[in-house]
Amino acid sequence: MSTIPEMPAREVPDRVRQGSHSPIQSLDDWRRSWMAARDNPDGFWLRESQARLAWQTPPTQGLRGDFHTIADSQVSWFADGTLNVTESCLDQHLATRGDKVAILWEGDEPGVTRALTYRELYVEVCRTAAALRSLGVQKGERVIIYMGMVPEAAIAMLACARIGAVHSVVFGGFSAEALRDRIRDCAAEVIITQDEGLRGGRVIPLKATCDDACVGERHVRKVLVYQHTSAPVDWLPERDVWWHEALADVAVSELPAVPCVAEDPLFVLYTSGSTGRPKGLVHTCAGYLTWASYTHEVVFDLREDDVYACMADVGWITGHTYIVYGPLCNGATTLMFESTPLYPDAGRYWDIVARHGVTVFYTAPTAIRALAAQGDGFVTDYDRSSLRVLGTVGEPINPEAWEWYYDVVGEGRCNIVDTWWQTETGGIAITPIAPATPTKPGSATFAMPAIVPVIVNDEAQPVVGPGEGRLCLAQPWPGMARTVWGDHERYVSTYFSTFPGFYFTGDGCRRDAEGYHFITGRVDDVLNVSGHRMGTAEFEAVLISVEAIAEAGVVGFPHPIKGQGVYAYVVLQPGVHDETRLLAAANAACRNQIGAHARIDVVQVVPGLPKTRSGKVMRRILRKIAEGAPEQLGDLSTLADPGVVVAIIAGSRR
Ligand code: PRX
Repeated sequence: MSTIPEMPAREVPDRVRQGSHSPIQSLDDWRRSWMAARDNPDGFWLRESQARLAWQTPPTQGLRGDFHTIADSQVSWFADGTLNVTESCLDQHLATRGDKVAILWEGDEPGVTRALTYRELYVEVCRTAAALRSLGVQKGERVIIYMGMVPEAAIAMLACARIGAVHSVVFGGFSAEALRDRIRDCAAEVIITQDEGLRGGRVIPLKATCDDACVGERHVRKVLVYQHTSAPVDWLPERDVWWHEALADVAVSELPAVPCVAEDPLFVLYTSGSTGRPKGLVHTCAGYLTWASYTHEVVFDLREDDVYACMADVGWITGHTYIVYGPLCNGATTLMFESTPLYPDAGRYWDIVARHGVTVFYTAPTAIRALAAQGDGFVTDYDRSSLRVLGTVGEPINPEAWEWYYDVVGEGRCNIVDTWWQTETGGIAITPIAPATPTKPGSATFAMPAIVPVIVNDEAQPVVGPGEGRLCLAQPWPGMARTVWGDHERYVSTYFSTFPGFYFTGDGCRRDAEGYHFITGRVDDVLNVSGHRMGTAEFEAVLISVEAIAEAGVVGFPHPIKGQGVYAYVVLQPGVHDETRLLAAANAACRNQIGAHARIDVVQVVPGLPKTRSGKVMRRILRKIAEGAPEQLGDLSTLADPGVVVAIIAGSRR
C-alpha cells in the first residue's frame, strides 16, 4: 500500500477540448504515442521531423547512439539530413501564412506595440543575415547576442541560423564579467547588442555593459548595435557598427539559407550547475527544432488562430524554444513582452491578454505567486475570455498558486499545463497535454513521447510504481543537448556518471499511484530563485572575493514568492569584526560578477563551516538550518567540530 495521499485528478474543461486538432486528444492517444515513440523511436521521429521541418535533404537515419556509449560518441538524430532551420521557421510559411503576424511585440510601456508578419520577419532576417556576413561572420562561428526583449533579438538569432553561425544568447541582466566569461568560453568574435534595454520603466545599459565586457578582449572584432532608445552611447569606430546602417549597406531582401547538417550546432546556451562555471550546452539544428515544434504544438494544443504568449526572456531556454523556434516553426503568432508583470501595476499581464486576445498564456510560478499576492482585482478588471490554455514553467508550482491560476485567472475554463523541463532537455519533457490530461495541482503529470522517466531511490534502484527519488531519463530524445561546448567530458560526468546508463536531471520527483509526477526541486547544489537557475558554487566564488570574507557556504531556503531564497554562511577574515554592510557588500559583488538577478537574502556570520574530518563542507546541515529545521540534521557522526553546528544554530537568522 502506498503511503502517498491520493488526490483526485481534474477533468479537462470542455472548452479546452472543443475544436482541438492536436494529434493527442485523449489519454489513450497519449499512451499510444508514448509507446510508439519508446518502441520505435526511429519510425516515430523520422515521421515527425519530416512532417514538421523543411528539409533540403530529408534524413533516412533516426537515432544513433545511446546513454551507455555517450562518453565516446555523441547521440545523434537524423544525422544524414540537411536543412537550415530558418527555412522551417520562415520560408515554409510564406506561401500560406505570409501575411499572418509572426511576432507581436508589446514594449515596456502599455500599448506600445509592433507586429511583424511572416513575410516581414523573413525579409528582416535575410537582411540581418546579409549584414552579419558582410561583417565576415562564417558558418560555425559563434555570435553572442546580448539584448533585451525586442523583436530584433529573435531576428538576430534567426539571422545567425540563416548563415549557419552558432548563436549564444546571454540574458540582458548578466553583468559585464559574466558576459566576458561567455564571450571567452565560446571564443566569440562578434557580439550583437542594443544601445539600451527597457524594463519596468528602468533603463538597462546594454551597450555600456558590453563595452566593459570587451575591455582587453582583442578577439572581439565587431559589435553590431541595434538602436532602441536612441540614447547616446560610447563608440569604437573600428569595432562598432550600427544595425540600421549595416542593413542599409547590404540592401537585399532575400538571402539563400546556408545548408547545415542535422547535427550542426544551432546554439550554445550557458546554464548553471552544481560546480564550477556555467556550462555552454550545445543544441543542434534538426533534433532540437523537431522537439521544439512537436512539444509546442501538442502540449499547448496549438490552433491556427491562436495568439500565443510566453512571458519568458530570450536569454533563457524557455525564450529560445517557446518564444522563437517552436512557435515560428509551427507558423504561430508569438508574443514578445519587453516589460515585467508588475509594471506599471499587477494588471499588466491581463491587460495584454485582453488587448491582444491571447489564447495560450505561459509564465513562471514566481510571477503567479507575486501576482496572487496583489489581490484578485488586478485580474478581474480585465477580460480574459480569450484564454484557453495556461502554462507554467521553471520551478515547482505550489498547489495554492496552481489553484489561483486555475480559478481566478482561468475562471475554471482553461487547462493548466505545468511543464517540467530544463535547458538540457531543449523542450518540455513531463507535462499535461492541454486537451488530453486530467490535472492535479502541483503535478507535471506524465512524460512526453520519447521521455522515459525513471525514479531512482537512495539505493540507486529504480522505483516501480508510486515512490520518491531522483529523476532520471532512460532514453535519448531528439531535443536533448548533445554536449557541453568544448568539454564533452564535463557533459558526460555531469549527466551520465551518477547513474550509468541514465541521464540524471538533478531533480527530485515523487510519483503517485496513478503515475502522476510531482517534481520536488533540485537535489544538487543548483538554486532556483524566481525561476532563475544559479549555482551555489557561483555565489560562493563571489563571496570569497569580498575582502572581509574568508570562507562561504551558500544554500537555498523556501521563499513564499521566489520559490527559493539564497542563504549565505560566511566566515570572516581574521581581525574583521564589522558585520554592518556585509549583505550590501556581498550583493554588490554578486551584481558585478553575476548580474542584478543574483541576490543574497540572508548573510549569517559563523565561526566556521560544518566540515567532515576530511574537510568537506556538510551542506546538508547548512540547508536544514536555513530551512528552519535544525531538529532534522540527521547523522552528525562524521562532523569534525560539532561546536560549529551549535554556534550556527544559535545564530541562525531563520
Ligand atoms: O528544477 C527544475 C526546474 O528548473 C530546472 C531547469 O532550469 P533551467 O534549465 O533554467 O530551465 C528552466 C526552464 C525550462 C529543472 O531542473 N523546473 C523547470 N520546470 C519545472 C521545474 N520544477 C518543477 N516543475 C516544473 N514545471
